[in-house]
Amino acid sequence: MAVSYKDLGLVNTREMCKKAMEGGYAVPAYNFNNMEQLQAIIKGCGESGSPVILQVSKGARDYANATLLRSLGKGAVDMARESGYDIPIALHLDHGDTFETCAACIDSGFSSVMIDGSHHSYEDNIALTKKVVEYAKGFDVTVEGELGVLAGIEDDVVAAESVYTQPEEVEDFVGKTGVDSLAISIGTSHGAFKFTPAQCTKNEEGVLVPPPLRFDILEQIEKRIPGFSIVLHGASSVLMKYVDMINQFGGSLDAAVGIPAEQLRKAAKSAVCKINVDSDGRLALTAMIRKVFAEKPGEFDPRKYLGPARDELALMIIDKNKNVLGSAGRY
Ligand code: G3H
Ligand code: 13P
Ligand code: ZN
Repeated sequence: MAVSYKDLGLVNTREMCKKAMEGGYAVPAYNFNNMEQLQAIIKGCGESGSPVILQVSKGARDYANATLLRSLGKGAVDMARESGYDIPIALHLDHGDTFETCAACIDSGFSSVMIDGSHHSYEDNIALTKKVVEYAKGFDVTVEGELGVLAGIEDDVVAAESVYTQPEEVEDFVGKTGVDSLAISIGTSHGAFKFTPAQCTKNEEGVLVPPPLRFDILEQIEKRIPGFSIVLHGASSVLMKYVDMINQFGGSLDAAVGIPAEQLRKAAKSAVCKINVDSDGRLALTAMIRKVFAEKPGEFDPRKYLGPARDELALMIIDKNKNVLGSAGRY
């Protein structure tokens, strides 16, 4: 039997994005795969008073079990309310690849879905996205589409280079599909290795500085679809604090590079209303788990290493909401 997200206490992303557009900030969309990540997201966003989009990828559904994840999403709303957090919470499918997956999520209580047809031809992307929008409409579920391809790994598809979004296509795409928001490609990419060292310059401290995002493309897009919600994927900063901790405590992450915080701040003030962050959370958790293992080699109670990792993730989220996305206190 279909479950409505409204009965689960969730909201779709329409109002959140509208407020973010008017307020000059971006709503964080944090990925989760397990209970500790979800607890940290709710605590971090609750404590900082930020609206939040809980994101579930295809990989997360396979890993954690789709039914359990949806129940976790519902549990997250209950936990937030019982903790006194009055923040709006959306449950969103990240990078849905087929109509069937999107429909299954909509039927099971998701309040928002992404249909990522960006690897298809332009015409097929429109047809697939439109089909999802038409289905979602009946449930008042919001739909995110994508135009352009991010470099790196996206849904098991590896693209060597970014295919930037073509501003000439956005009006037509948005008009023909009826999507609520559009993910664009302006130089971000998924994962912790967003740029090769050859693409970067080095600053005085020897730190790799990546090429700037293509704000010129973003501006052209904004001119063509004024006031329309834009989404930035692959937007982790790859915080050096965590990369260094991982390397210090036995890991090996060389040449990890992300999107500098100033560029994300600039994007958040524009029509970018939703910013996706997964890798930064993974790095924070891994750094703290490695630290505990290195300092307490006899520890084998998962709560003793997952607990500190969860606390670190909540702190990272608070900092991001306050100092990068500007979503803190905007609920
Ligand atoms: O955009 C991709 C997200 O980071 C999710 O990654 O497919 O490994 O769960 P995943
Ligand atoms: P990062 O890998 O930069 O965290 O991007 C996550 C993302 O775009 C999820 O859809
Ligand atoms: Zn993504």
